[in-house]
Amino acid sequence: MSAVERALAHVRTARGTYLDELIEFLAIPSISTLPENRGDMTRTAQWLADRLRGIGLETVELMSTGGHPVVYGEWLGAPGRPTVLVYGHYDVQPVDPIDEWTSDPFVPTVRGDYLYARGASDMKTQIFAQVKAMEAFAPGGGFPVNIKYLIEGEEEIGSPNLPRFIETHRDQLACDVVLNCDGGILGKDQPSITYALRGLAYFELEIATHEKDLHSGVFGGSIRNPIHVLAELIASLHDADGRVALPGFYDKVRELDEEERRALARLPHDDEAWRAMAGAKALYGETGYTTVERVGARPTLDINGIWGGFTGEGAKTVLPARAFAKFSTRLVADQDPAEIQGQLEAHIKAHVPEGVSWKLHGHSWGPGAIMDRESPCMRAAMTALGEVFGVAPLFKREGGSVPVVGIMQELLGVDSIMLGFGLSDDGIHGPDERFYLPNLYRGVETYVRFLGGL
Ligand code: BES
Ligand code: MN
Repeated sequence: MSAVERALAHVRTARGTYLDELIEFLAIPSISTLPENRGDMTRTAQWLADRLRGIGLETVELMSTGGHPVVYGEWLGAPGRPTVLVYGHYDVQPVDPIDEWTSDPFVPTVRGDYLYARGASDMKTQIFAQVKAMEAFAPGGGFPVNIKYLIEGEEEIGSPNLPRFIETHRDQLACDVVLNCDGGILGKDQPSITYALRGLAYFELEIATHEKDLHSGVFGGSIRNPIHVLAELIASLHDADGRVALPGFYDKVRELDEEERRALARLPHDDEAWRAMAGAKALYGETGYTTVERVGARPTLDINGIWGGFTGEGAKTVLPARAFAKFSTRLVADQDPAEIQGQLEAHIKAHVPEGVSWKLHGHSWGPGAIMDRESPCMRAAMTALGEVFGVAPLFKREGGSVPVVGIMQELLGVDSIMLGFGLSDDGIHGPDERFYLPNLYRGVETYVRFLGGL
């Protein structure tokens, strides 16, 4: 029996225990952004470290980052074989709006084929499945490849400490390829691999026109209103074709070639289904591109929030002194978040009238990424998916961001294989987040076959 066959046999006998253990993991509220969950973050990291010790890794430790710890693990007992760095994150998003959950987000609950919990799809189930795949190899005596784990606790807040962490531990993290479990597939029964991700640059803007809020009758008409200034500024960020109007914004965008456009057009995408899934009345976007291209291959800018003045119940006649907006750009490969910030500053400077002050604050950022679809590791992943699902896998681009992918390309010089099993209707970051349970077991099997196939 080959090592892979032995491991698959182990999975078949052990899979009955997976669900209870996964529920334990999901029950810990590891919300990275909330100070009150600090203790839960360490508990989750320790829970994971115990699992890694349990499968027989040589070194397992919690490493400090300045923020939430990284769970690191290592087994280098297969000299001459490739070294795979497994990436995952153990943090989750907050649960609000809590009233819209059918069951408590931290009391994982099975309904039908789904397991409902915060983090079920993004992404505790998948890192759990990867560990289970490793466990399945362990009794047979050793793993098929050298393995390193980097499981972070700050992905959902933009991985603020991760670039420095990777840079300082460059040698320790050296590897041939990254197995990134933070991803999804096109459909329940339609496997796919993400080969491109959008990056992110997130900003907050404050506009101020005077010192304190004033009476809008006494002063209105004689001085500027910062909300008007902000509204005009926001309006100036797009043109009538849905393109971002920042000078230089598209300069570095890698255009799709015809071959790739044709491949994207063949993906099983349906505009009407997409519209319905979004619950929108109509689709909208940059002229000249399909929905798949708009989301996967074109950069965008979205206002995430806007506030200022009086927003309480009733009426208050006020001339507010300040106005605020949060906005984010989704970037594609080769666009540089720092350059985008420079373009924004120049644009604001040119558009804000004299006598108005403004502050632009850069929040999190992360580069986009595009991966080689022909590499041996990519082929091994496609083969594994095809064997497990019994359907030929497809290549897709992802509109969401996993900044670590681009960061690892830059700092470690390696591509990531995005092998995750979430679905676009899993409700990640929203209420009733869920995971389609049959793909937990297929996921474990896929990881086994991928690692064995390398
Ligand atoms: N897992 C998601 C990204 C994702 C979404 C991958 C859908 C595949 C399919 C990730 O945790 C996430 O939400 N990332 C954030 C960026 C981060 C910097 C806060 C995002 O895309 O908004
Ligand atoms: Mn995630």
